[in-house]
Amino acid sequence: MAEDDLSSAFITNNLETRFIGQRVIYYPRLTSTMEVAKREAQQRAVEGTAIIADEQTAGKGRIKRTWLSPKGSIALSIILYPDAAYLPYLIMLASLAVVYSIETITGLKSQIKWPNDVLIKGRKVCGILIESDVRGSIVGYVIIGIGINVNLRLSHFPEILPIATSLSDELGGTVSRLDIIRCLLVEIERLYLALPAGESIYEQWRDRLVTLGKRVQVKQGGTVYQGIAESVAKDGSLLLRHSDGSLTKIVAGDVSLSD
Ligand code: BTN
Repeated sequence: MAEDDLSSAFITNNLETRFIGQRVIYYPRLTSTMEVAKREAQQRAVEGTAIIADEQTAGKGRIKRTWLSPKGSIALSIILYPDAAYLPYLIMLASLAVVYSIETITGLKSQIKWPNDVLIKGRKVCGILIESDVRGSIVGYVIIGIGINVNLRLSHFPEILPIATSLSDELGGTVSRLDIIRCLLVEIERLYLALPAGESIYEQWRDRLVTLGKRVQVKQGGTVYQGIAESVAKDGSLLLRHSDGSLTKIVAGDVSLSD
């Protein structure tokens, strides 16, 4: 498959943002964009700095899992210094920005599995990892890491084939990673600047959640909960109704849909 060039000049050229993606650090090959982003954030890199890799050799997933990130996928991390009040909205913002960018560039419709996996026809096309340095109400930094399966033949990756998909597999043709990244940077900034009106981001995110109303199983640490995903709270947590009528509020966890 033809590879598009992701080096920084191609990304920043006439990019219509004020600060998100105006500084790009690009690597053809890297362990994880999260590692470089963390170092940069600790040195107070300018807000909106984006770390992008053509290929990651040790991509990090949620809950200490690894993330497969070969050539043809998008791996990017963005550094932010938000107000503590906006922290719960960043998960929503990141998944919405991915959904909107996929739709704009490819026309494909995607949905969000709580809290922030992006799915097409029930299969995962994008994973999001948020790492932060927060002490009390002081936010040192937040890093939003986004991995999207763009031009991957999932049949070449049997380990994730049953649960994953890629944009090219869905479309039956290659997709410009550059177009997706540039659109994503614009969407992230648009939603980030709209955060003072956080209500609307919450509603947009809730309306895209495929999880609500479904029977689910949620793993949180060593505990497994089962029930109906009834609703989400404004802080992003999931409200799970059990068969005995009781309700559990889940702040973080891994959801599987049972039906
Ligand atoms: C998940 O669903 O488990 C989250 C996956 C997040 C992957 C992205 S790819 C860019 C950034 N760098 C990483 O090492 N991980 C995130």
